[in-house]
Amino acid sequence: MAGQIPQRFIDDLLARVDVVEVVGERVTLKKSGRNHSGLCPFHQEKSPSFTVSGDKQFYHCFGCGANGNALRFLMEYDKMRFPEAVEYLASRLGLEVPREGADDPRAQARERKHKEAVNLLELAGSFFRERLKMPEANQARGYLEKRGLSAEVQQLFGVGYAPDAWDGLKRHLGERGIAEATQVEYGLLVQHEESGRTYDRFRDRVVFPIRDLRGRTLGFGGRVLGDAKPKYLNSPETPVFHKGRELYGLYEARQALGRLDRLLIVEGYMDVLALAQFGIHNVVATLGTATTEDHLARLFRLVPDVVFCFDGDRAGRQAAVKAMETVLPLMIDGRQARFLFLPEGEDPDTIVRGEGAAAFEERVECASPLSEFLFEQAAQGRDLGHLEERERYATQVLTAVDRLPEGVLKSILLTELSRRTGVDVARFQSLLEKGAEKAGMAADATNRATVQSNDPPAVAGTSRAGKLALDQMGRTLQLLVHEPGLVERLPDSDDWCDQDDPDASLCREVVKLLKAGRYRNSQVLLAHFLGTPEGERLAALASQAPLVPAGLRGTELDNWVAYFQRHQRKRSPREAYDSLLERARNGEALSKEERQHLMQLLAELKK
Ligand code: UTP
Ligand code: MN
Repeated sequence: MAGQIPQRFIDDLLARVDVVEVVGERVTLKKSGRNHSGLCPFHQEKSPSFTVSGDKQFYHCFGCGANGNALRFLMEYDKMRFPEAVEYLASRLGLEVPREGADDPRAQARERKHKEAVNLLELAGSFFRERLKMPEANQARGYLEKRGLSAEVQQLFGVGYAPDAWDGLKRHLGERGIAEATQVEYGLLVQHEESGRTYDRFRDRVVFPIRDLRGRTLGFGGRVLGDAKPKYLNSPETPVFHKGRELYGLYEARQALGRLDRLLIVEGYMDVLALAQFGIHNVVATLGTATTEDHLARLFRLVPDVVFCFDGDRAGRQAAVKAMETVLPLMIDGRQARFLFLPEGEDPDTIVRGEGAAAFEERVECASPLSEFLFEQAAQGRDLGHLEERERYATQVLTAVDRLPEGVLKSILLTELSRRTGVDVARFQSLLEKGAEKAGMAADATNRATVQSNDPPAVAGTSRAGKLALDQMGRTLQLLVHEPGLVERLPDSDDWCDQDDPDASLCREVVKLLKAGRYRNSQVLLAHFLGTPEGERLAALASQAPLVPAGLRGTELDNWVAYFQRHQRKRSPREAYDSLLERARNGEALSKEERQHLMQLLAELKK
């Protein structure tokens, strides 16, 4: 680190900066009384529970518990690191950030270099933009117009033009004191291997800056105006640009939309621009590479719902299969990945121009969920009437399921696979557990299925299910805490809450309160439990964003309840009796049926 920032400076900075202004530039806020409120940018919600107080210089979300000052907001929302957030606020006030303490010269040099690079790339970006306005760029402007890109879209994406010369940029940067070696290092100049001579990498191309989430230019992509090859030229890997990590259009999407809840991944620069031209801004492109796990991890940190968009041809399907493999390990509950296939020979650019925005959005809505794509892909070219083919089908699905993290999706897929193959879920479960040889495992399962066809239906009554239930009831509670109105969907009887799970009794209590018709709002519900261990548990659950978009939470809750109902452990009469009695002793009012049941059990136990 380049020395500590003195605490005095940070205090002073926070005293001078206005959190309402900082937040207000990123989130739509309405004045309400002394505070400002709006939709929380840290979780999905329909009615505002996010407030910003100018008096206290503090923001707080009653829904998810996010809170803090202006610095914290920048760190959470803009993903800045602490010193960056300080730098950012200081520069707004025209202040230099002082540093104290012993400096590490290596870190200092690194920091200086990074700053230099950013400046250099920024300089290059504005050079290209300026050139696009010149007479020499007539043809380039004509090309952009021909591709139907408005001045606004060009501006939003900072499109520029690299002049038709060997040393246009090189001279421009050289005059500003930037060493050739630095320009080579950041991919702006190419160095001839033998002669050592350097020349501009981008020449006579339309240029698209590739920016990070904060809008800093990291590299460029350039397209030829005609049919020459290569059609696109990208910055090489540099100390700041890694194409397996960056996504084109992310910054612009955030600029245009502020809050994102779904992102579409397409293949090309032009697809991103064309969709933006048609008002579809939640789009990013990979930069001429397959989607990496790094890409996806980044996207899922921003949105819960990712839609892959592919050409309908063979190559497109292959790319989709690869994308699916990459996304599987990341599919924790609450996340969604879907697959959209376009007709052969089309890309998002041509489709949206041909069909319009509404039709395109409709295609996105109809994209196949991962589960559907997985089964469809595994079934392709197979006659499932044949045993061997069914084995291979099951193996393929099971291999994919094995890569999923524990959660709803995994159990749903196993149940579905069981339905489709007639093999009991418990078989698949135990095969996965044993970590059997992948090739042999489904074959083994299908063969035995004929023998074991009268197994009990889908009971994962193993210790594994018990362990899972821990998170599951907590997740159910979390959904209810975030959206108490969901209680309407629950069945009348709450016996599904009767699980061996530390959250079960709290869940039953919450359900009862909500069913009674009060506490239909998270804050009131939390207030009811305030100061108790249950209150702490609920607050912890409330403080985590549920990640699933509001529209899907109901379905998830239904799935959980159905899951609990299926996985309910058969209790002995003794256990059932004890559990009912304990509830009665804890002051719970038992229903009429429960009281009758209690009497029955008592009679049974006396025998
Ligand atoms: P496409 O060849 O599908 O081009 O490449 P496109 O996006 O439809 O481009 P237009 O519509 O003809 O202008 C998709 C992406 O693959 C990378 C680029 O990122 C491009 O956007 N690519 C393609 C390259 O990096 N180099 C190339 O030569 C071609
Ligand atoms: Mn295209």
